[in-house]
Amino acid sequence: MNIALPPMGWNSWNTFGSNISDSLILETARAMKEKGYLEKGYEYIVIDDCWSLRERDAEGRLVPDPEKFPRGMKALADDIHALGFKFGMYSCAGVQTCAGYPSSYDHEFTDARTFAEWGVDYLKYDFCNFPAHADGKTRYATMSMALKASGRDILFAACNWGTDAPWKWMKSLGVHMYRSTGDIQDNFQSFSNIAKSQLDNFCMSGPHCFNDMDMLTIGMYGKGNVALGKACTEAEYQTQFGLWCMMGAPLILGGDIRSMDAASERLMLNERLLRIDQDPECRPPHVVYRGRVINNEYDPETGSWWHEYPDCGLTLFRHLSGNEFAVGYFNFAPKRGSVPFIFADAGLPYGSGVGLHLTDTITGEDLDVHRDYYNLDVEGHACRILLATLVS
Ligand code: GLA
Repeated sequence: MNIALPPMGWNSWNTFGSNISDSLILETARAMKEKGYLEKGYEYIVIDDCWSLRERDAEGRLVPDPEKFPRGMKALADDIHALGFKFGMYSCAGVQTCAGYPSSYDHEFTDARTFAEWGVDYLKYDFCNFPAHADGKTRYATMSMALKASGRDILFAACNWGTDAPWKWMKSLGVHMYRSTGDIQDNFQSFSNIAKSQLDNFCMSGPHCFNDMDMLTIGMYGKGNVALGKACTEAEYQTQFGLWCMMGAPLILGGDIRSMDAASERLMLNERLLRIDQDPECRPPHVVYRGRVINNEYDPETGSWWHEYPDCGLTLFRHLSGNEFAVGYFNFAPKRGSVPFIFADAGLPYGSGVGLHLTDTITGEDLDVHRDYYNLDVEGHACRILLATLVS
């Protein structure tokens, strides 16, 4: 399998949890096609945990829950394929899935064959209920070989939540993407911490094996299965998508596509941002600023014009193909503040005479040519993502 770019698709878990069915999955696939997601590259439709019965059949095979999936998985997979998508499913390296359903420990080859028979193209492979004496790396290696022996090309999406620094070894096991962190929750703190925790690891993410920062929560607005804490704002969702695209992470959507609000839909279908995420060179970003953000608005409660937020500013610079670049300004502080971008930090010193022609990815605004530096005032919890070309 040649997985050359960060995989894109949709997964049932974030919004629906155990509340999944044949009709939900098909309705989602149809909505993704009608609303243009498939055309933009979101090609995998993935069913997460809770799809099976609690027991295997007499031959030791996993059985789809007939109440949720009355036609079985093959018929559903055929319909998903007929719409032009690829079909994803879920199992786990332990003895039970995280929600307590049978999983693939010591059943790897049987289950991989079953998935292949059903027409599965993508397997998310979790890490709950894993025997203490067993070795995680060996079991991910086993499922990788079982998938290869199944006779079907199946993308292997390992999900061990960052245990034992998977960025150092998953690629060597034939894995195509690996979850590098614990579960995302639909709040600003959760996804910000996930992205910050992976900034140093993206040099090990690239063609054939991508660092997966978890499914997105854009458009969920505090509803669904991973709602916890304060619901996100539109600006916060832009920050989520901006981080994933600037880092070149897989884009597996988690909201309810059927009833998505217009702003979230525009964001997830934004061609400039998708072009950054899917850039063929798959280079990680380079951190050109990480430090404080200062807010200079008068606060009558403290009587102060000076509010310092340590480690809340982040500027990422990314080399794209064709001598193009992307610049991401992130303000993790709750208040507006200036986030710097000094071109010398990206390799364009003062006096080089070379400037950057900048375009805003979200508004499409032409920001003109700048030299030496271009600092931006960014609202609290918001971001600005720019595309850049060199101008001599
Ligand atoms: C784990 C995974 C989640 C999801 C659930 C399902 O927590 O990390 O992404 O698959 O299990 O139970």
